[in-house]
Amino acid sequence: MIKQYDALIVGGGVIGCSIAYQMSKRGKKVLLIEKDRLAGKASQAAAGMLGVQTELKGNGPLYHLAKESRDMYPSLARDLKEISGMDIEYVENGMIKLARTEEEAQELVETASIASRGEQIRWLSPNTLFSYEPHLSKDVAGGLYIPKDGNVSAPKLTQALGSASKMQGAEISEYTDVYDFMKERNKITGVRTSKGDFYADETIVAGGAWSRFLLDRLEMKFKSFPVKGECFSVKVPGKIVERTIFTEGCYIVPKVGGRLLIGATEHPHTFDETITIGGLMSLMHLATSILPELVDAKWEKAWAGIRPQTEQGVPFMGRSEEWKGLSIATGHYRNGILLAPITGVLMADLIEGKESHPLLSYVRR
Ligand code: FAD
Ligand code: GLY
Repeated sequence: MIKQYDALIVGGGVIGCSIAYQMSKRGKKVLLIEKDRLAGKASQAAAGMLGVQTELKGNGPLYHLAKESRDMYPSLARDLKEISGMDIEYVENGMIKLARTEEEAQELVETASIASRGEQIRWLSPNTLFSYEPHLSKDVAGGLYIPKDGNVSAPKLTQALGSASKMQGAEISEYTDVYDFMKERNKITGVRTSKGDFYADETIVAGGAWSRFLLDRLEMKFKSFPVKGECFSVKVPGKIVERTIFTEGCYIVPKVGGRLLIGATEHPHTFDETITIGGLMSLMHLATSILPELVDAKWEKAWAGIRPQTEQGVPFMGRSEEWKGLSIATGHYRNGILLAPITGVLMADLIEGKESHPLLSYVRR
């Protein structure tokens, strides 16, 4: 029997699940296909920070896209709870980007001045900073405070988006490897998988860092590369930090239940998910120099994930110019959790023919 859908989405990470969620909400017949299990790759590893000023530079279109996406979280968390019953552990706990030198302080004061209006971000002098976060090392030059940045559980968010998609009528096929496309002249008509062939008007590749292997089947000139990141988590009695603390090379994210998540290393051009002593040592060194009381924390676990990065350094979200019925959404690099809600909306709009969003053309250039 031929299996025909409105859309096939390849990849059950946060990006594929967010697209499935938005499309199924609009009544589309969607099949989400995942090689492993949902939220098994980068979306499992992510720290879940929703930081618009920490890793994105300037006041450009990607910053505005990120801000729009972050601001969708309060209602998304409510909707996902209502539809799937799952709690994505969204908290608006704020973010502090630390300056460790006077030069970094200068740069951050400048960032505060160019941030868009209504963002209420502000520079904290060392004294004010210590009144906010008294356990921080006194060896810092101040920090940029972004009150509206929060964090979520990235794996729970991905699972909840998948589960809500199902409740809205989407089908999900886990442990199903998509290994090729079906074509008719210049149109993609479906995919070939380890569980058989599936047909659809639209196929969306959201395979994270692995997207390019699939796109290679079509000889598409799509340039991306993997960037491995290692993290670890600990438990502390009581709260030694309220807000997420971010600095070059290290961040500390307070999670529910007294957990602190500490990340992340950066190793480009490898798909190897091994956790190394060297990687963990560099994180531990930086983290304890920012928050000395961490030396007494109880070890929980360590893990690694592979971020999808593009050569242009911005996510690719758009239609293939060569192949009709084919779209791609990947390359969210360090910000896939932050950008997932808006990516779902933009891709669902694109599939419906609303291609005019100015930010979409920016990110697909
Ligand atoms: P993935 O989550 O990797 O999902 C892609 C899926 O596609 C995989 O499950 C894979 O199995 C599947 N797939 C691939 N090929 C096929 C195929 N042929 N057939 C079927 N399935 C296929 N972002 C933030 O915004 N905030 C953070 O705090 C943050 N912290 C991070 C910390 C670390 C250590 C790492 C590694 C990343 C972090 N990120 C963060 C980035 C974020 O995790 C990624 O940008 C995001 O998860 C990418 O989602 P994705 O769905 O594109 O990829
Ligand atoms: N955004 C955090 C990371 O990618 O490590």
